[in-house]
Amino acid sequence: MKKLFVKTYGCQMNAYDSAKMADLLAPLGYAQADAPEGADMVILNTCHIRERAAEKVYSELGRLKQMKAAKARDGGKMLLAVAGCVAQAEGEEIVARAPQVDMVVGPQSYHRLPEMIARAARAGGHALETDFPALEKFDSLQPPQASGVSAFLTVQEGCDKFCTFCVVPYTRGSEHSRSPETILTEARQLADKGARELVLLGQNVNAYDGGGWSLAKLCEAIAQIDQIERIRYTTSHPRDMGDDLIAAHADNPKLMPYLHLPVQSGSDTVLEAMNRQHTGDDYRRLVERIRKSRPDIAMTSDFIVGFPGESDTDFDATMQLVRDIGYATAFSFKYSKRPGTPASTMRKQVAEDVKAARLDALQKLLLSQQYAFDDSQIGKIMPVLFEKVAREEGQIMGRTPYLQPVHVKTDAALIGQVASVKIEKRTANSLHGVLA
Ligand code: 5AD
Ligand code: SF4
Repeated sequence: MKKLFVKTYGCQMNAYDSAKMADLLAPLGYAQADAPEGADMVILNTCHIRERAAEKVYSELGRLKQMKAAKARDGGKMLLAVAGCVAQAEGEEIVARAPQVDMVVGPQSYHRLPEMIARAARAGGHALETDFPALEKFDSLQPPQASGVSAFLTVQEGCDKFCTFCVVPYTRGSEHSRSPETILTEARQLADKGARELVLLGQNVNAYDGGGWSLAKLCEAIAQIDQIERIRYTTSHPRDMGDDLIAAHADNPKLMPYLHLPVQSGSDTVLEAMNRQHTGDDYRRLVERIRKSRPDIAMTSDFIVGFPGESDTDFDATMQLVRDIGYATAFSFKYSKRPGTPASTMRKQVAEDVKAARLDALQKLLLSQQYAFDDSQIGKIMPVLFEKVAREEGQIMGRTPYLQPVHVKTDAALIGQVASVKIEKRTANSLHGVLA
């Protein structure tokens, strides 16, 4: 067997893509290793959404260059591939700056990896694939080799929204949905491999349109698969939250009461400059409708502070929106420039210390809401889907319907099952309980 090491940065979509690349290379004799030393192939599956992403990749490539040289001294060959959104954004710049890289492959071209490997092995030189072919990249691929209790399944990719701060429309291309047939086939395969929960992924997952199938209809079909007990989806855009999806949160018992619905800001001025195409009140009304359908739904969001032009009043509007909605948890970031995006050249960039102070205030508020939400579960009996053994000896870890991690001292035989747990206490990052 040859050794394959895949390093994954960034989002869940990348985690899914990494697993798919490993499945794709398995028939070529590659087995996954958990370290890059001595590997026959190393793939860096990169993410461009965070700051200085490209610089981090180049420094990692510097380390790998030495390992590649060591492998060559031993008479072997280490193939080096850069995949993901940095590959898409940087393209040829990567082979120019890091000639040790054999392959640069954008997110839409992973199905070409076997052919690229064959080329690199035969001829040497560099292979570069960063087109956006119309073809469905994973539909001709291998069935999943393995599955955890909770499995990712990509149903949609790309984004046409062009928020002015974001690189995704440039790196992942325009919105594209996989067909319901291929998704259902993969869902059944994952279920056969042990998946009990499916997390449907897409940059704009609620914009899913599979030839007339909405996301709600897809969830309904997936709910027919007996072994699948829980369905989640992420990430949604407020503008694509259709009535039938809202209704599904009441009607589809397998659809979990949890919704990641990024709002980014509570200020209408900032939302407009971000090109979000909705106001703070639009979002409030939407959440009200969702809560009418599913009163206990746990809401989560992403926030950006310090977007160009954001004033103290704008920031206050974000804090007010957070107080009005009440989040179970949320991610928050300081705005940072992405080359090529409209916001990066806007005048009135916000000073770093102002951004830091705003982020601190927002995160304190969000954390207090998270703790309040978690504490509200103490004393309750919750259905927990157990996923894996926990780090602490004798404990296993599972999740509530609201995605909260729960640690329980009990038999590992319960992994893969839903059991009732009485929640007893909360620590910083987890709930703890006993079987009820
Ligand atoms: N600066 C800060 N945060 C960003 N995000 C995306 N682009 C940027 C940027 N330029 C955040 C958004 C998005 C999440 C995945 O990352 O909040 O929802
Ligand atoms: Fe980026 Fe999401 Fe906006 Fe699309 S909707 S541009 S992925 S932030």
